[in-house]
Amino acid sequence: MSGPVISGDTIAALEGDFRAAMRLLASGVALVTTLDEAGAPCGIAMTAFMSLSMEPPSLLLAINRTASLLAPLQENGRFVVNILAAEQAAACQAFVTTPPDRRFDTLDWRIEGGLPLVESCVATILCRVEQTADFGSHRVVTGLVERVMVGGGEPLVYVDGRYGRVGVDG
Ligand SMILES: Cc1cc2nc3c(=O)[nH]c(=O)nc-3n(C[C@H](O)[C@H](O)[C@H](O)COP(=O)(O)O)c2cc1C
Repeated sequence: MSGPVISGDTIAALEGDFRAAMRLLASGVALVTTLDEAGAPCGIAMTAFMSLSMEPPSLLLAINRTASLLAPLQENGRFVVNILAAEQAAACQAFVTTPPDRRFDTLDWRIEGGLPLVESCVATILCRVEQTADFGSHRVVTGLVERVMVGGGEPLVYVDGRYGRVGVDG
């Protein structure tokens, strides 16, 4: 065998250890939304998003290629990152566990700027798809930021399979 063995001696062990490690990465949670060709709202909960660059303001999403959101997001070309508040844990879980066509019945939302915006979020970021690239099971989407609304409040946090909020030191 060449190179150091950091974890496990099989792909399955490596995958398990990698999953266990990544469960310990605390993330914010967003509902990423768009409108499909018929004008119906679509969305999924996501933790795989990050700011990319300030020049220009842009972000990255990693969307599973099997996710119901992917086709409408690419067809529309515009999407919203609705960053959830700590109080929205139950709303997030209800959204995730409801079939795509009834998901938006579970929360308050409105159309603004031609896109579906979730109410009561800590921040709302409207984007235009700039680039996409496939890697493994996912499609990496680069979004150019077009408009931002900051509601404020405490963000929802997801870590080790659970929802929570940021602890305060001191
Ligand atoms: C907390 C949380 C974070 C998630 N993060 C992502 C993510 O970053 N990317 C992704 O493709 N799916 C993510 N998912 C899964 C999607 O929300 C969704 O459940 C999955 O795509 C299936 O949706 P569909 O039935 O609409 O296809 C996440 C789910 C949860 C509960």
